[in-house]
Amino acid sequence: FHVPKAINEPVKSYAPNSPEKAAVLMAYKEMWNSKIDVPLYIGSEEIRTKNTRNMTAPHDHKHIVGTYHLAEKSHVEKAITNALESRKAWAAMPWEQRAAIFLKAAELIAGPYRAKINAATMIAQSKTIHQAEIDASCELIDFLRYNVEFMTQIYNDQPASDSSVWNRVEYRPLEGFVYAITPFNFTAIAANLPASAAMMGNVVIWKPSDSQVFSAKIIIDVFKEAGVPDGVINVVFGDAVMISDTIFDHADFAGVHYTGSTFVFKEIWKKIGTNIHKYKTYPRIVGETGGKDFVVAHPSANVKQVATGLIRGAFEFQGQKCSAASRAYIPKSMWPAVEAELKSEMATIKMGSPEDFSNFFTAVIHEGSFDKLAKFIDQAKKDKDAEVIIGGNYDKSVGYFIEPTVILTTNPKYATMETELFGPVLTIYVYDDNKWKETLKLIDETSEYALTGAVFSQDRYAITEATQALENCAGNFYVNDKPTGAVVGMQPFGGARASGTNDKAGSAQNLLRWVSPRTIKETF
Ligand code: ALA
Repeated sequence: FHVPKAINEPVKSYAPNSPEKAAVLMAYKEMWNSKIDVPLYIGSEEIRTKNTRNMTAPHDHKHIVGTYHLAEKSHVEKAITNALESRKAWAAMPWEQRAAIFLKAAELIAGPYRAKINAATMIAQSKTIHQAEIDASCELIDFLRYNVEFMTQIYNDQPASDSSVWNRVEYRPLEGFVYAITPFNFTAIAANLPASAAMMGNVVIWKPSDSQVFSAKIIIDVFKEAGVPDGVINVVFGDAVMISDTIFDHADFAGVHYTGSTFVFKEIWKKIGTNIHKYKTYPRIVGETGGKDFVVAHPSANVKQVATGLIRGAFEFQGQKCSAASRAYIPKSMWPAVEAELKSEMATIKMGSPEDFSNFFTAVIHEGSFDKLAKFIDQAKKDKDAEVIIGGNYDKSVGYFIEPTVILTTNPKYATMETELFGPVLTIYVYDDNKWKETLKLIDETSEYALTGAVFSQDRYAITEATQALENCAGNFYVNDKPTGAVVGMQPFGGARASGTNDKAGSAQNLLRWVSPRTIKETF
């Protein structure tokens, strides 16, 4: 059985006078004043509850863009019931019919929904158009297309048989329902987590982040139009602890697909452990969590490449990527040149509203994030072993704006070399050129997380040394490139240690976590 060969969706330019620019600006203007009201989606029903919360725009936080409805415990229970009632028909649907639904979803985003999903991501998740295009359009389309290709490989992967024995493997969905908990920072991840489990025949309860409701609404519209049947993906918003507790208490809970903080993921493991005797099956626990991603330059590295890698790795997407470069190790001999390059390039960075397409950079997601970043920046201004050398200003009077900031430290274990900040703050430690091997050891010892990392060098021995010494420090390791921007189908993405279960997003390995195969041997 063959499906269309997956191709990566080309990134549109949004150049002045381009039709895509006009379309997304029109959608943005309409949505800015739309005051949308997002209900819960349970079975065939759209449920409006007594409790609502406002959605605001992070770059203009007094502006209310809409409201969404918060679930009560009874709604979560209803969502579980609906999911379980929908399970039999969905699981029995031939997989190529399910594949067709998700391929159609990809084409709807590539076409009629592209401007809308990008605009919603720009407004409520505070992304520039280029960030929104890469995330909400291209990466999301790629996840859907490639996962359909991977599912084809899985279903076609059958054991050997002979003339008297026919062996076959049925890749059945899990016995129960899957819970998807998704973050604000990627619309693509938000859609992929429920979709990848659903594709494999599972029914899903999806809890999007409070800061991602606007684009979640567009994803739901796309899934409905593509033909995902009612009850297959049920959506609840609201109190994460109450929703999770209700779900983890249920005998039919069969797996969680999570992206978010390390702290919450560890709480999830504990709760599932506590409830383990309640479940029919051992639940699948798949998570991608935090990062404290490194860049290390060898004295042989190209200065421009290092500086560009640092700026793009640390500050694209406002640094709000689990993969963002947030600590760097630069040799003393190279530092003056790298510093000069950082200062001159970063002076050109334009920050402001997503509506202005010339901005490289916009606001961080919310006040909690803003305050945390401002606190660490202020502390670095006071500490003796740290110095803010670029940026360091912030202002939340209109939007949550934090300037791209570089801290220089003499302490390789300084707080911002070890703590995940999830924002536009890069900390740099300058090491003695003759301490290359010790620096690699230091990086390994301080890598509590192991999501991404990058080495810059023109010396193949040094590249080999770094690749080997840092083998456990990054699930995605880059040579002479920034540690961000994994492309589906090219660099399967995920990390180990405190960064997650390393079930690469956009891979057959990930999809296999959502099936419970049955081997059938038949003799003639
Ligand atoms: N997958 C995203 C990246 O690689 C997070 O940057």
